Amino acid sequence: MDLLVVGAGLFGLTIAERAAEAGLRVTVVDRREHLGGNAYSSVDADTGIEVHRYGSHIFHTSNERVWDYVRRFTAFTGYQHRVYSTHAGTVYPLPINLGTLNQFFGTAMGPEAARALVAAQAAEHGDGTAPTNLEDKAISLIGRPLYEAFIRDYTAKQWQTDPRALPASVIARLPVRYTYENRYFSDTYEGLPAHGYATWFEAMAAHPRIDVRLGTDFFEDGQPLSKGSARGQLPIVYTGPIDRYFDHHAGPLGWRTLDLETETLPVRDFQGTSVMNYADLDVPWTRIHEFRHYHPEREAQHAQDRTVVMRETSRFALAGDEPYYPVATPQDRERLHAYRDLADDEPDVHFGGRLGSYLYLDMHMAIASALSLWSSGAVLERSAGSSAA
Ligand code: FDA
Repeated sequence: MDLLVVGAGLFGLTIAERAAEAGLRVTVVDRREHLGGNAYSSVDADTGIEVHRYGSHIFHTSNERVWDYVRRFTAFTGYQHRVYSTHAGTVYPLPINLGTLNQFFGTAMGPEAARALVAAQAAEHGDGTAPTNLEDKAISLIGRPLYEAFIRDYTAKQWQTDPRALPASVIARLPVRYTYENRYFSDTYEGLPAHGYATWFEAMAAHPRIDVRLGTDFFEDGQPLSKGSARGQLPIVYTGPIDRYFDHHAGPLGWRTLDLETETLPVRDFQGTSVMNYADLDVPWTRIHEFRHYHPEREAQHAQDRTVVMRETSRFALAGDEPYYPVATPQDRERLHAYRDLADDEPDVHFGGRLGSYLYLDMHMAIASALSLWSSGAVLERSAGSSAA
């Protein structure tokens, strides 16, 4: 073996595929029983509906290199994501756009009138001081009425925290579109893998020089590919949590986790769309995903009297919970610096992916970052060194 990759998510699979293609013998371990990390999906045997097991995943990118790369392994459908939000008994399109504004204010404004209205409402936070909390920041961007309807309670549910107690830095901007365009993503390319995520990941791992060991935890002492056995013996690309690698030496990094509750309902179509947000506090979940809508082209294969939904709620991760979104408090950032310093002292280990870099990465970003690491030559150099040793 020339290279050990810890984690079979998109970062790890991309490194493994590139390395195998370049002639290296690669072993990939993952503690889960499937490939693909959080982007994994499987077809529900009862309904024939493909269910995204860790929440909705829609592929989108404007990066030509990534788009060319991923299409070696899968074709994509023409799916375009759109999200709606239920507030006070009414459904509105998101992100906030001219349709949302006219529906919310009961108006028929054109773009300029709408722009002027939002600017006037945003001027409420007009004392010249920089906003110090999330609420003030949001009001300074979109005004109080829109903030209270679409941001305040949704954010409180996401963070289990009053937005007045959250730092202003949690939101950088709140885009308002002064057109009726309500496509969620504005990337050049978008779609879902035509034959499912699992088929895509299997194609990436199919190279004869790639050996995949599922259900294998890098930290489980005694197994031959554990940290204790492999470290110092060969180059490692590690995509698990960076704080776990160093035994939480500088303290644990904070994450938000999700509770995802999947249910089959006895109706063909529950909500008429893939994702419905719930903006108010009277509904405990932040959103409901309905997976049949991701593949309208497969309707003939889907059950016609049942549908699969997933309710999503959000909270701070405790030990043992799946980490989903970095919290990134100032204390977390300090700890991350300490871990990066420790990582610099491990020249044979490359830390990457969302957990290894403590960054939210979309799929295309994880792939782009893995392709960059590979192209830098750093992994190949060390592998060549270790083979020669
Ligand atoms: P990922 O987490 O996928 O893989 C890491 C792997 O390492 C896991 O399989 C884990 O089991 C393994 N591992 C960890 N510790 C280990 C150990 N000790 N031993 C062995 N294996 C270990 N992106 C997008 O483009 N469109 C979208 O719609 C969404 N939607 C979305 C929804 C939600 C709720 C989240 C949280 C995220 C998204 N994403 C997304 C982001 C997407 O999930 C992300 O880009 C990829 O998961 C990143 O791939 P990685 O390989 O970095 O991590």
